[in-house]
Amino acid sequence: MASTRLTLAPLLLIAAVLLSTKTTAQPAAPAPGPAGPINISQILEKGGQFNTFIHLLNITQVGSQVNIQVNSSTEGMTMFAPTDNAFQNLKPGTLNKLTADEQVKLILYHISPKYYSMDDLLSVSNPVRTQASGRDNGVYGLNFTGQPNQINISTGYVETRISNTLRQQPPLAVYVVDMVLLPGEMFGEHKLSPIAPAPKSPSSGVSDDSNSTKKAAAPSDKSGSGEKKFGLGFGLGLVVLCMKFLF
Ligand SMILES: *[C@@H]1O[C@H](CO)[C@@H](O)[C@H](O)[C@H]1NC(C)=O
Ligand SMILES: *[C@@H]1O[C@H](CO)[C@@H](O)[C@H](O)[C@H]1NC(C)=O
Ligand SMILES: *[C@@H]1O[C@H](CO)[C@@H](O)[C@H](O)[C@H]1NC(C)=O
Ligand SMILES: *[C@@H]1O[C@H](CO)[C@@H](O)[C@H](O)[C@H]1NC(C)=O
Ligand SMILES: *[C@@H]1O[C@H](CO)[C@@H](O)[C@H](O)[C@H]1NC(C)=O
Ligand SMILES: *[C@@H]1O[C@H](CO)[C@@H](O)[C@H](O)[C@H]1NC(C)=O
Repeated sequence: MASTRLTLAPLLLIAAVLLSTKTTAQPAAPAPGPAGPINISQILEKGGQFNTFIHLLNITQVGSQVNIQVNSSTEGMTMFAPTDNAFQNLKPGTLNKLTADEQVKLILYHISPKYYSMDDLLSVSNPVRTQASGRDNGVYGLNFTGQPNQINISTGYVETRISNTLRQQPPLAVYVVDMVLLPGEMFGEHKLSPIAPAPKSPSSGVSDDSNSTKKAAAPSDKSGSGEKKFGLGFGLGLVVLCMKFLF
């Protein structure tokens, strides 16, 4: 297992590429803010219940990219940190079903390239873009609704709420969520085909799609929009390898 350390170099490249797809969209104004260096690992470590997320940020190098970007961005950043429990509560195999680039995108989905206070989130216009958003692959947005003491987050696939605040101070906000934010863009209908298309058991009773005229023979429509092509095939297998050791 020690040999997995060798794979970090390609990971850095991948994370940098993925992050840069978003960074380039920002007006890169390098106004040198007086903000001291931010270390996201340190912030999360103080929370005491984010070991899995810290580890994921670390092995994908997304964490260090955040440290750099938050220092140079005028917009700041917002991160939604799932607790260790949140990862434990995922259905077994959930992460391993993702392709390597989807796994990285899942992490990027928990980061928005803009600072939002809780108040900001109450009045923000939905959907809010995340770092997983790209030109070719959909919005990867989060929706926020709620009242001052309860802000709900919806991904289109899971709904949860901000359960705590680790940091709320520009340029970085870090909020705690009790569920892993699984993007609707990945997990919603037709987006992620199950590993084994379970043979629909002829369940008793009427299935509710008896009306649906559009529903053709099911498995044929997964060719879709080709949104999984990132042209980042190199080295991605290694990411999978790393992730497999985790879960
Ligand atoms: C933050 O940015 C400033 C100026 O842009 C730079 O001088 C400084 O080294 C950066 N700090 C870190 C920790 O990257
Ligand atoms: C950030 O904090 C972690 C844990 O406290 C530490 O291991 C790491 O070296 C720090 N990174 C930087 C760039 O200071
Ligand atoms: C990050 O990964 C490196 C290399 O695997 C490891 O040495 C370091 O301890 C990790 N840091 C954290 C905070 O997990
Ligand atoms: C937030 O979610 C809770 C349950 O999870 C629900 O009762 C409440 O109505 C939701 N609030 C808004 C504004 O969506
Ligand atoms: C998010 O909000 C937008 C605008 O209100 C809406 O069109 C979209 O369906 C919502 N998505 C989810 C996943 O709730
Ligand atoms: C089927 O369609 C009818 C009328 O369009 C509707 O009343 C009924 O609820 C639908 N049934 C299902 C299972 O969707």
